[in-house]
Amino acid sequence: MVVIENMLSAEEVALYRQVLKELPWQDGKSTAMGMAASVKQNNQADPTDKRVKQLSNEVLARIGSTPKLVSAALPQRIFPPVFNRYQQSETYGFHVDAAVMRIPNSPDVLRSDVSMTLFFSDPDEYEGGELVVATEFGEQKVKLPAGSAVVYPSSSLHKVTAVTKGERLAAITWMQSMVADISLRKTLFDLDQTIQMLIAKQQTDREELDNLHNVYHNLIRQFASV
Ligand code: NI
Repeated sequence: MVVIENMLSAEEVALYRQVLKELPWQDGKSTAMGMAASVKQNNQADPTDKRVKQLSNEVLARIGSTPKLVSAALPQRIFPPVFNRYQQSETYGFHVDAAVMRIPNSPDVLRSDVSMTLFFSDPDEYEGGELVVATEFGEQKVKLPAGSAVVYPSSSLHKVTAVTKGERLAAITWMQSMVADISLRKTLFDLDQTIQMLIAKQQTDREELDNLHNVYHNLIRQFASV
């Protein structure tokens, strides 16, 4: 799991929320399949609405321009981000996301490798509503400030606990990664983050950094399917 802090600024969050407030919301069950639908109780912004499409495209663009997120997910295809809302006692029980998704209004399908939740509500605006991801080290609970996001493997069981007070707004999406193998993707992320830290320290020789960069890109070249 990787947390992306301040993917959106406070001003940007406020602008999104202004639009989200006025949108038509529909039952979230309409986009869940099979077993997932039976445990899903939330609302989702009508994806055919022009304003929703606009917001969705803006999130999409931001994903592409957020280096840490790109490094963690190495996205090849991204599902148009979906906006959801949980109010009093709404919840989404443990489920797995569909492995293959059809991209709306497109002949393309996407294999979900990486899931993302981008928070639009601050933790003190609602009670409950934690994203809980079952990992090999136990359950991880996530509740981030508005404007921050978390990415986690789509292969993991996860849920959103019931909101007991207030309202939780978020955007979610799924990405097909250029690197399907989860452990390889993590190793590449660790390598890239280490290179970024060395660059930030400004103590490493240019030549050594170039060599490390070269190693990273050659690994991508070897293992990425594009
Ligand atoms: Ni899910």
